[in-house]
Amino acid sequence: MEMESKQELAERLGCHGQEHLLQFWDELDEAGRDLLAKEIASIDFDQLDRLIAGLVRGAVEEPEIPAERVHPIDVVRLPQTDGERTARRRATDAGEEALAAGEVGVVLVAGGSGTRLGFPGPKGTFPIGPVSSASLFQIHAEKLVALGSRYGKQPPLYVMTSPENHDATVEFFERNGRFGLDHVRFFIQGRMPAVDLKTGKILLAARDRLAMSPDGHGGTLAALAGPGDAGCEPSCLAEMGERGVQTLFYFQVDNPMVEIADPTFIGLHRQGQAEMSFKVVEKMTPDEKVGVVVLVDGRPQVIEYSDLPRSLAEKRGEEGQLAYWAGSIAIHAFERSFIERLVGGLRLPFHRAVKKVPYVLPTGETVQPAEPNAVKFEQFIFDALPAAERFVIVETDRAVEFEPLKNAVGPDSPATVHQRMSDLFGGWLEQAGVVVPRRPDGSVPFAIEISPLFALAAHDLRAKVEPGLVVERPLYLR
Ligand code: UD1
Repeated sequence: MEMESKQELAERLGCHGQEHLLQFWDELDEAGRDLLAKEIASIDFDQLDRLIAGLVRGAVEEPEIPAERVHPIDVVRLPQTDGERTARRRATDAGEEALAAGEVGVVLVAGGSGTRLGFPGPKGTFPIGPVSSASLFQIHAEKLVALGSRYGKQPPLYVMTSPENHDATVEFFERNGRFGLDHVRFFIQGRMPAVDLKTGKILLAARDRLAMSPDGHGGTLAALAGPGDAGCEPSCLAEMGERGVQTLFYFQVDNPMVEIADPTFIGLHRQGQAEMSFKVVEKMTPDEKVGVVVLVDGRPQVIEYSDLPRSLAEKRGEEGQLAYWAGSIAIHAFERSFIERLVGGLRLPFHRAVKKVPYVLPTGETVQPAEPNAVKFEQFIFDALPAAERFVIVETDRAVEFEPLKNAVGPDSPATVHQRMSDLFGGWLEQAGVVVPRRPDGSVPFAIEISPLFALAAHDLRAKVEPGLVVERPLYLR
């Protein structure tokens, strides 16, 4: 493609009030101009105009959802009765059949920038194993390898990265022999420009570069359908079709406790002939930072924690439990056919995220803002839910499956993740007859870790450890 001239660019940008992007053009060398022109060419300005009008200049505070339109959604609760346990077992059988038939693929989203954690590399490379310091990626990958041994077919893994962390992510997997995975593919999510909070002008990250950021995990859908890395391979979605993958298990990189491709969840999703399914946990407090799955005007929807009106967050039922308790832990099952349908037509809405984004002043100086100065535009994968013809919402036990790594200290930090993993593995050992010391509050007093290659679940341990054994110090089983 021939590069557009300065004049052509200026005309196009002028129509959208973004001509300031060329303010350093005359000082740039050929390579700089080329870079800038390419970035400008990648932007859909009509779409951006609409987003700026709606989410920056327009009614900036989105109106609260009126309480009378919102209702609790039906959830497959954790089994309490024998009948419910039998039903879950049947679902597990159905999920195991799908796994053994090679009909399950796995999508891991790891394109976020992990600003809250303050870790320089991709979040998946963070050493989180409480004893081994294994990375998040290693723990996830070992679960897939273990699933392969158990069911005879290893689900293919599709890892979504962003332009910022793609190379570092791929390099990390390569350096570690791809953790023994049979099939892993990386695909890059799209980007959106960040704009000034007050004016809606696109920010420049450098004289020849726009401030761009990942377009949110809603970008997974389009990115799965996009061309492969080299431009000539089939899209991930097409490749899944060729491999016979029908159901996708989707999860976020930050939760090391996720039960990847959990056959019970896959089975419930399939038995319900669902197009999209969710795992939820009971929200602990009205303030917990998880989106809630609800019905709005009778349609299923996630209300993100930042958008949930206080009155709804705090509303309680007759027994004192939160009325809107179904907290989404960002674990989903998708039918591939549903994603194909969405990619063909539906556009997920964009949300605004107000963030601190460094930018270049007309003097050429870079500013590191102390206060949020910019709006980023992001799509959320859970906004696909209202488009699903059928869906299943499944409750899971947070102690077993949910402790995400979000922050450097405090809640959802390495310290809490280590403790919760150790508590879980301590419980597995106890089920196998091992004696594990406990503090008065029930937590285990030192780090315990079990590699997924050693055991994927408590029942895998029974044949491998000696009943009566007493654990007295940090333990790593691999
Ligand atoms: C997210 C969910 C929230 C859920 C919670 C559970 C959103 C908007 N909200 O909150 O409903 O209850 O997780 O832990 O997601 N990511 C990308 N590309 C992007 C942005 C994010 O791949 O452009 C990935 C990140 O790598 C990460 C995940 O998505 O794995 C979550 O992003 P994050 O911004 O941390 O979401 P939360 O606010 O924690």
